[in-house]
Amino acid sequence: MKKRVLSGIQPSGRLHLGNYLGAMKQHIAAQDVADRECYYFIANYHSLTSLRDRDQLRELSIDVARTYLALGLDPQKALIFLQSHVPEVCELTWILSTLTPMGLLQRCTSYKDKLAKGIPADHGLFAYPVLQAADILIYNSHLVPVGADQKQHIEVCRDIAQRFNQTYGELLVIPDPDIRPDVAVIPGTDGQKMSKSYKNTIDLFGTPKQLKSQVMSIVTDSKGLEEPKDPDTCHVYNLYKYFATDAEQTEMAARYRAGGYGYGHAKLALLEKLESFLQPHRDRYQYFLDRPDEVMDILQTCGQKARAVARETVNNVRNAVGLI
Ligand code: ADP
Ligand code: TRP
Repeated sequence: MKKRVLSGIQPSGRLHLGNYLGAMKQHIAAQDVADRECYYFIANYHSLTSLRDRDQLRELSIDVARTYLALGLDPQKALIFLQSHVPEVCELTWILSTLTPMGLLQRCTSYKDKLAKGIPADHGLFAYPVLQAADILIYNSHLVPVGADQKQHIEVCRDIAQRFNQTYGELLVIPDPDIRPDVAVIPGTDGQKMSKSYKNTIDLFGTPKQLKSQVMSIVTDSKGLEEPKDPDTCHVYNLYKYFATDAEQTEMAARYRAGGYGYGHAKLALLEKLESFLQPHRDRYQYFLDRPDEVMDILQTCGQKARAVARETVNNVRNAVGLI
């Protein structure tokens, strides 16, 4: 039997290198693994917790699809769809929420982080992991490839699914997280986790000028050009590593240690790597930018397939819990 791979990505801002290295790269690669069946969705219900501009939400939702398609997602091999094309997920969220202890959600670090940043605590933000659990369980997903920051949410999902199965019988598939050990949390231009909400991103499909200014804004220490530097604590070097060969990494690290190599040089080397990685994908991005109807058609077709699976799960769940 094929393993179902599922992941979601929020359309709450332009997609960035952290999203790509932490999640999208693995998503796209999985479409070519023989025993995998990949479902990827644009988590627009989730984004309502942070984005309250309708035009922006619509545009950013389409942009996530465009970005996946530009980077190589093939809708013949993997589904890409909108979370809101499968409203059954909201019904499952309610049923699961009746089995979710408050304490489980109160312990979620992403919730606590958002509160610490001054985001008002509303019910949607608090219940966010329950909707995420429903997203995963509704498609009987086996594997959930996400960045390291999402590990706790997958544990919450497993916990809720186990409670459901203990209460109503073994119906839900318990998913496993798929977190690449070699991809840590990617640092942003200020050294914190790269995140749309921290405004420290290097965007995938900004203009070349924006790309340059984002790379040049990476924070470094104040060591002068001549001084020896530590590559491992430098955000520029840490990003460069993801795009360079082993030999190139060793060479740059040696230059840091020797002195006479400035952070400006390292930034230009990183920029060159990023340019050569992104250049071939930019034309495809533009292709889909010019054809919003084609993108919508792909989302509709994939959404219908996903919805058929979701309907079946929700029907089974309704029967299991005794809803008429
Ligand atoms: P953001 O923090 O910018 O809002 P999301 O939370 O929407 O990003 O993340 C979408 C996906 O990208 C998730 O799977 C997440 O784990 C991954 N991801 C986001 N930022 C990073 C990062 N800095 N490093 C690694 N993975 C990341
Ligand atoms: N919370 C995830 C994030 O911010 C997005 C997401 C929503 C998701 N539902 C999901 C990821 C289901 C994996 C599976 O990155």
